[in-house]
Amino acid sequence: MFIAGNWKMNGTLDQARALARALAEQLPAGAPTTALFPPAPHLTAVLEEVADSPIFVGGQDCSPHPDGAHTGDVSAAMLVDLGARGVIVGHSERRTNHGETDAQVLAKVTAGMQAGIGVILCVGETLEQREAGQAEAVVRGQLAAGLPETLSGDAITIAYEPVWAIGTGKVATRDDMSTMHRMIRAWLREHRPALAETFILYGGSVKAANADDVFAADEVGGALVGGASLKSDDFLGIITAAMNA
Ligand code: 13P
Repeated sequence: MFIAGNWKMNGTLDQARALARALAEQLPAGAPTTALFPPAPHLTAVLEEVADSPIFVGGQDCSPHPDGAHTGDVSAAMLVDLGARGVIVGHSERRTNHGETDAQVLAKVTAGMQAGIGVILCVGETLEQREAGQAEAVVRGQLAAGLPETLSGDAITIAYEPVWAIGTGKVATRDDMSTMHRMIRAWLREHRPALAETFILYGGSVKAANADDVFAADEVGGALVGGASLKSDDFLGIITAAMNA
């Protein structure tokens, strides 16, 4: 299992430090791989706070470019320089708020791989697409477009995050989750065999109270958690649920 906390654009520097410190101190022995994705300006502080723990830290996005005139962007190499070991790419909030295309997502996945950090590629359909019966086709399309065709031993994790479940309190039913995750697993086996066994995370309103149910779904290898990753007790509850799954 792999549990990742996406803090999005939340918290002050002091709050980031306190949250990271609490998690580092309270992470139970035998916890699954745990990663934190704080806002970029808080990366160094969070890395300091978790330095003596097994928690690893990553960025919420990276530029597709190695360097140059890209105001406001952060390169994958800059993340590595700080000590970050992962990056989230293609989150629906980036796709929607910043108009990120599949081609840009692919370029960012490639940039992360070339920098040698783990990439979490996010995929997921909107409510409109689900209601139109297109959910699986949309996700297949995002996988095909976002994952380089040639892969070998690269650390890429998939996060299935239905857009309508993000921050809404609505969670996919266990059946829908299982169906989608089985489809993703089958697609990876057929089209990207190097990723056949990679973790497939679920994201979208995961909380300590529903985590048991999420982790009982087929092929769910962990969670990408937004809101509930901002409070140590809630996030630790999800980690405990993963340990008991
Ligand atoms: P919530 O857990 O707040 O729904 O966010 C999920 C998410 O977008 C994680 O990347």
